[in-house]
Amino acid sequence: MWFPVQIQSKSVTPPFRMQQQCSTNGKFNMSLLGFVVLLLLSFASSTSSCTEQEQSTLLDFLAQLSPGGDGSLNKSWVRGTDCCTWEGITCRGDNTVMDVSLASKGLTGRISPSLANLTGLMYLNLSHNSLYGSLAMELVLRSTIVVLDVSFNNLAGPLKELQSLKPDLPIQVLNISSNFLTGQFPSTIWGRMKNLVALNASNNSFTGQMPSSMCVNSPSFTMLDLCYNKFSGNIPPGLGNCSMLRLLKAGHNDLSGTLPQELFNVTSLEHLSFPDNGLQGVLDSSQLIH
Ligand SMILES: *[C@@H]1O[C@H](CO)[C@@H](O)[C@H](O)[C@H]1NC(C)=O
Ligand SMILES: *[C@@H]1O[C@H](CO)[C@@H](O)[C@H](O)[C@H]1NC(C)=O
Ligand SMILES: *[C@@H]1O[C@H](CO)[C@@H](O)[C@H](O)[C@H]1NC(C)=O
Ligand SMILES: *[C@@H]1O[C@H](CO)[C@@H](O)[C@H](O)[C@H]1NC(C)=O
Ligand SMILES: *[C@@H]1O[C@H](CO)[C@@H](O)[C@H](O)[C@H]1NC(C)=O
Ligand SMILES: *[C@@H]1O[C@H](CO)[C@@H](O)[C@H](O)[C@H]1NC(C)=O
Repeated sequence: MWFPVQIQSKSVTPPFRMQQQCSTNGKFNMSLLGFVVLLLLSFASSTSSCTEQEQSTLLDFLAQLSPGGDGSLNKSWVRGTDCCTWEGITCRGDNTVMDVSLASKGLTGRISPSLANLTGLMYLNLSHNSLYGSLAMELVLRSTIVVLDVSFNNLAGPLKELQSLKPDLPIQVLNISSNFLTGQFPSTIWGRMKNLVALNASNNSFTGQMPSSMCVNSPSFTMLDLCYNKFSGNIPPGLGNCSMLRLLKAGHNDLSGTLPQELFNVTSLEHLSFPDNGLQGVLDSSQLIH
């Protein structure tokens, strides 16, 4: 398999620097993945009504937004009406809320962790709003969510380590990119995400070592975008355990050292880029063709 790392023609001249842009031309598209999952989830219909409890949980989420920050959701989210008909809500046949899609709705304020109380929620998309505060990790660690997209908001601070009640979290797609998140990646959290397929954490201010523990724990892990952060240290050899990894981007960080040999064992890799780091070393062209 050809390895499309862009190293121009003189591929063995040290120190090399990969020139590929960080945020464009990803062969693997997170939104496409989300879409596929959404299609799979879309066998919904609603005939009667959602439960009062689910209604209260959603209204609690609405109430936690800033005053006036609900982007006029309050017009359709009215207590006493069927929440399956509310703007952005999709239910299953049994009237449990399955999908909360509120991208680009002008929401401001905090994300209430109460959404984790929706017992059938699989898809939560709050991207492209102005939500602030910390990311409620309950949504990842104590919920049934499979696809979570909170990209393009103003979320800040570190990701809290929470006790997970589940040994095996259902989350597959996690997009926390383009926020103001800081701190290190808590490795115990990633150990629990055994179903994780794609993680986009790009364009934040994460520090410390690049995470790699998901490689051991998530057999289907396919996409990792860590561009535009403050990750430092070496590229972890543990990434060599990501046997299904197709895309790895970690440009625009403070990484140093050389590409670990283990990475060349990952024959599934189609896109690898580390521009704008302090990496160095020699690339042997025989390593690049599998
Ligand atoms: C979230 O919604 C936005 C806007 O509709 C869409 O572009 C994006 O792909 C969605 N995210 C996921 C993971 O499906
Ligand atoms: C969510 O569940 C927790 C624990 O079961 C409970 O304490 C909390 O009040 C619930 N929140 C809402 C909004 O229902
Ligand atoms: C909904 O929120 C807007 C903006 O805060 C407010 O002007 C409007 O009166 C609210 N509508 C209802 C029905 O509460
Ligand atoms: C990750 O998200 C950023 C926007 O925050 C986007 O530019 C980038 O293409 C995404 N990465 C992948 C591999 O889809
Ligand atoms: C990075 O995140 C900020 C804040 O959300 C956003 O305004 C900017 O467009 C993002 N940049 C890229 C390259 O996605
Ligand atoms: C890959 O995972 C195995 C099993 O957990 C571990 O022993 C090994 O050190 C890992 N490889 C790398 C390169 O970290």
